[in-house]
Amino acid sequence: MIVVSAASGAFGRLVIDRLLERCPAGRVTAAVREPGKAADLAARGVTVRTCDYDAPRTLRTAFEGAGRLLLISSPELDPARRAAQHRAAVDAAGAVGVGSIIYTSFLGAGTQADGFTAAHHVTERHLEASGLPHTLLRHPFYSEAFLNPGLRGAVASGELADGTGGRGVNTALRRDLAEAAARVLTEDGHLGCAYDFTGGLWTYEDLADTLSRLGGRPVVRRDRADRAPGAQGWLEERIRSGALERQTDDLPQVLGRPATTLDEAVTAVLAAQGSTA
Ligand SMILES: NC(=O)c1ccc[n+]([C@@H]2O[C@H](COP(=O)([O-])OP(=O)(O)OC[C@H]3O[C@@H](n4cnc5c(N)ncnc54)[C@H](OP(=O)(O)O)[C@@H]3O)[C@@H](O)[C@H]2O)c1
Repeated sequence: MIVVSAASGAFGRLVIDRLLERCPAGRVTAAVREPGKAADLAARGVTVRTCDYDAPRTLRTAFEGAGRLLLISSPELDPARRAAQHRAAVDAAGAVGVGSIIYTSFLGAGTQADGFTAAHHVTERHLEASGLPHTLLRHPFYSEAFLNPGLRGAVASGELADGTGGRGVNTALRRDLAEAAARVLTEDGHLGCAYDFTGGLWTYEDLADTLSRLGGRPVVRRDRADRAPGAQGWLEERIRSGALERQTDDLPQVLGRPATTLDEAVTAVLAAQGSTA
């Protein structure tokens, strides 16, 4: 049996979709904080169990009988609390004899013990110390943080605001990362591996060109003078400092095909918004 934690989230749902293409629904368990949110998954034949990282007692029953557990990281922002949640999940998995754990970590977490990767670093070390067979899926930032409904506004106005100072950024779409996770969960040969996943390098200049071509009207990149507040501003600061520039071949190797290109991703975003030419 394959158990997926945090399965009601955007990434978890994509993984379940990919798993159902590869194995019978009876082999898949969605472990979610609120089972009511996974009624659609239950209707597809997936077993739904309660799993709250803050309620250790739920974790053992959620993971019981799992040959493989996909432990999707918590969205908790406080690093200490997030690390404690992940430690509780690993301990529960060990206590009920889960066969192996596949953990969604983040690029750089193997060596970087502070900042954004602090909780991932602790979790990686805890997994290692647990002695449980495991695989690390180190994710980059999701492309969806950059390729989002805001692109429609850029096509309409002809201007694409770039807060990154012209630097390039490597990201990957959730759907490719989900397919890679499904492969690791259903294939042999991945235990003991740490995969650094990312997609191709792109810039806002590339993105403006792509939008011009696919949106059917000229779009030019312009530097944004102000720093956007909130998560987007934080991301852009990381890009400006070069923290997100990273190339690796791991994602295409696990997918068995190139990761989604910028063109494909932008086409999907624009098509979903009904604004393609
Ligand atoms: N690489 C990136 O760019 C990036 C971006 C965002 C997030 N992430 C990380 O990747 C994970 C998956 O991303 P996503 O896009 O699927 O996020 P998401 O859509 O926000 O989903 C988060 C999931 O975590 C669940 N959750 C929250 N608190 C929990 C708890 N205490 N116990 C158990 N489950 C809990 C949520 O359950 P409910 O449905 O009940 O709320 C939801 O299923 C995130 O949790 C975060 O750690 C990575």
